[in-house]
Amino acid sequence: MTKGPAMSSTGKKVGARAETAVFWQRFAVPFEYPVHFTERVFDPDNPVLAETVSRLEPDRCHRCLVLVDDGLLAARPGLCDEIAAYAQAHGGTIDLVTAPIPVPGGEQIKSELYFIERMQGTLFDHHIDRHSYVIAVGGGAVLDAVGLIAATTHRGIRHIRIPTTVLAQNDSGVGVKNGVNLRGVKNFVGTFAPPFAVLNDIDFLRTLDPRDKIAGMAEAVKVALIRDGAFFVWLERHADALAIFERPAMAHMIRRCAELHMHQIAHGGDPFEMGSARPLDYGHWAAHKLETLTRHHLRHGEAVAIGMALDTRYSVLAGHLAAGTEDRICFLLEHLGFRLWHPALGNKTTEGRSAVLAGLQDFREHLGGELTITLLSKIGVGVEVHEMDEALVLEAMHWLEDRETE
Ligand SMILES: NC(=O)c1ccc[n+]([C@@H]2O[C@H](COP(=O)([O-])OP(=O)(O)OC[C@H]3O[C@@H](n4cnc5c(N)ncnc54)[C@H](O)[C@@H]3O)[C@@H](O)[C@H]2O)c1
Ligand SMILES: [Zn+2]
Repeated sequence: MTKGPAMSSTGKKVGARAETAVFWQRFAVPFEYPVHFTERVFDPDNPVLAETVSRLEPDRCHRCLVLVDDGLLAARPGLCDEIAAYAQAHGGTIDLVTAPIPVPGGEQIKSELYFIERMQGTLFDHHIDRHSYVIAVGGGAVLDAVGLIAATTHRGIRHIRIPTTVLAQNDSGVGVKNGVNLRGVKNFVGTFAPPFAVLNDIDFLRTLDPRDKIAGMAEAVKVALIRDGAFFVWLERHADALAIFERPAMAHMIRRCAELHMHQIAHGGDPFEMGSARPLDYGHWAAHKLETLTRHHLRHGEAVAIGMALDTRYSVLAGHLAAGTEDRICFLLEHLGFRLWHPALGNKTTEGRSAVLAGLQDFREHLGGELTITLLSKIGVGVEVHEMDEALVLEAMHWLEDRETE
């Protein structure tokens, strides 16, 4: 701590002249959390969850409240019983305060603060304290909402994430952000709050809708494009296997993608995004707008694929990326099953402007001032720009539309 000017014992400043003082408060808090890759996480013979819960106080029994995505439950009705049986088998470690509680799956849970309040009421009813665990099992939307309640109830409760979609396992679930939407703006209410642990179990993907399996791969293409050219080539080589969701290919894709995300958070220099850059948000400015414009009929990953195709073509038009590269990238995305055009790209505001372009303004506000957009300079290497030429964005949109109708 740096000391300011001398103070008298009464706390008044000494001397005739009015002086100001500043005391710099400065400390650093190290964060760490494990991201496990396991299988059949609720098989009583699998020790990972029990060991995770007992990591800090191995001799205690820990109060745990489990919230489960109801879309997942519809596909796997016996899951709550499996979780209860697991807790019973590890009774010395896990005290399930109540049977696992279903919560709305998908964007619905992020669309109204009512769900946040309701879940916080549940935590209150079950006397969840700062040494208890809130365990979320579900897709990225459920993890985002539960992450927010865990971060804000009692100013922070230990939170274990068990992601059950491709996107949540390779991207959202392993990171430090949570959030819900307000007035149509994605993630308007949220915090940066690292989880206590993440347990990735690829078995959950068995029941996932093919559409969601495809959608989650967008984040892998994204991180490959801006961080790891070799991974992009791997994705190209394994596109056939990924397109039919072959398990070994999916497992590698998820792990590598999660690893690249974790590396960015730990070593990118700005884990809580204090600066205006959003280094991993390639293709996301348009994606967030498209999600809202389509009232979430487009999945996040589907919108990201379109947003990346748009920004890739824009990167070429703006002279950052060699012509032809956009075809290679669009070809991979299409091979994986994405469509790269949606009619909402043609939506207009009441003033007759492109509605998607209005997303640039939302993005700027979310960042807090300076617009920072990641474009591509080559496969594996992003480049940040602070301005977008609207005419070129429109040209890139037309290019996508022409591809669709060809
Ligand atoms: N926090 C972050 O850093 C971050 C990053 C990227 C995306 N996100 C957010 O993640 C959300 C998207 O997450 P998502 O792609 O996982 O989709 P999702 O959570 O919307 O889930 C998609 C659907 O699958 C169901 N489901 C979940 N797991 C299932 C399973 N194993 N079997 C059958 N059905 C299952 C859900 O009920 C839902 O209906 C968006 O809200 C997005 O903003 C957050
Ligand atoms: Zn994303």
